[in-house]
Amino acid sequence: MKILAIESSCDDTGVSVSEGRKILSNVLASQIEIHRKYGGVVPEIAARKHLEIISYLVQEALQKAELSVSDIDVFAATYGPGLVGSLLIGLSFAKGLAISESKPFVAVNHLYGHIFSNFLSFPHLEFPYIVLLVSGGHTEILIVRSYDDITKIGKTIDDAAGEAFDKIARILGLNYPGGPEIERIADGGKEIYKFPRPLSKKDNFDFSFSGLKTSVLYFLKKNRDKFDIKDIAYSFQEAIVDVLTQKVFGAARKNKVKNIVFAGGVAENKRLRERAEEIAIVEKVNIYFPPLSQCTDNAAMIAIAANEKIQKREEYSPLSTNAIPYLDIEND
Ligand code: KG4
Ligand code: ZN
Repeated sequence: MKILAIESSCDDTGVSVSEGRKILSNVLASQIEIHRKYGGVVPEIAARKHLEIISYLVQEALQKAELSVSDIDVFAATYGPGLVGSLLIGLSFAKGLAISESKPFVAVNHLYGHIFSNFLSFPHLEFPYIVLLVSGGHTEILIVRSYDDITKIGKTIDDAAGEAFDKIARILGLNYPGGPEIERIADGGKEIYKFPRPLSKKDNFDFSFSGLKTSVLYFLKKNRDKFDIKDIAYSFQEAIVDVLTQKVFGAARKNKVKNIVFAGGVAENKRLRERAEEIAIVEKVNIYFPPLSQCTDNAAMIAIAANEKIQKREEYSPLSTNAIPYLDIEND
């Protein structure tokens, strides 16, 4: 079954063509340069940019797959969670293609994309596995036992981990997105400031990052120029990496799960990878970090999740499917 999938939940426009679990093409247009000058994603601009580029990307994805639109069996798109204006562009475009080609349409939960795209990089990954999803919009720990058995066992109660990186970077006068900038600046820094590890003593798998942000802010105000930005970036990164690893390995131990997958933009962080590798040896757990291009949003993950959904549910989605900005795992 050949699927053409569109991802447009935030600021990346992606189109991918797949056949089964094989990706035939995967093209992406990033808007990072446009949003950088505003210090974050501007939803109105994001939606307009998706609209400008989507038809060209669909053509490019078909060309790269050496197929024409009439060869496609199913059209898929992300319907949530994400920015409503952005979601509506990809969703409407995919539905339009389905109508004009008289082919079925399938709506995909973006979170399922992050969860099931791991089969792309790790074809031998076995259930059950834990996913630590850490991006600009998400910080969640999920146990995946099968396509229809996913439990969220931890989440952030305020900011997402990537959002915390972005906010601290902004306070430090660094560019957007803040994660890679903090990582770059932290190189060669030392942990001379012990920032708080929010909720780390709590016996659950929830996260909180807003107190950490406030603590960095107070520290900077109090100490004015008496610090090295490298050490601040390093100390902050250590605090986040500590909390993320402590919670996800704790979740694996408590639930007796031996496989952990890291997903989302923050999973690109080298210090997180390094710490996780150290802990995994001690805990005797297998860890999986997707290649960098698979950490961040793309349409191949939507194509893969669409394929899984069709195989498991044996049904398509109605054309009345609307964009759901706060779509969760449980209500898919
Ligand atoms: O998954 P993603 O591309 O988009 C969504 O938010 O859905 O994640 C982007 C987030 C941003 O907050 C960015 O600062 C963070 O991931 N990020 C990183 C790194 N690369 C990207 N955070 C820490 N270290 C990195 N190397
Ligand atoms: Zn994402």
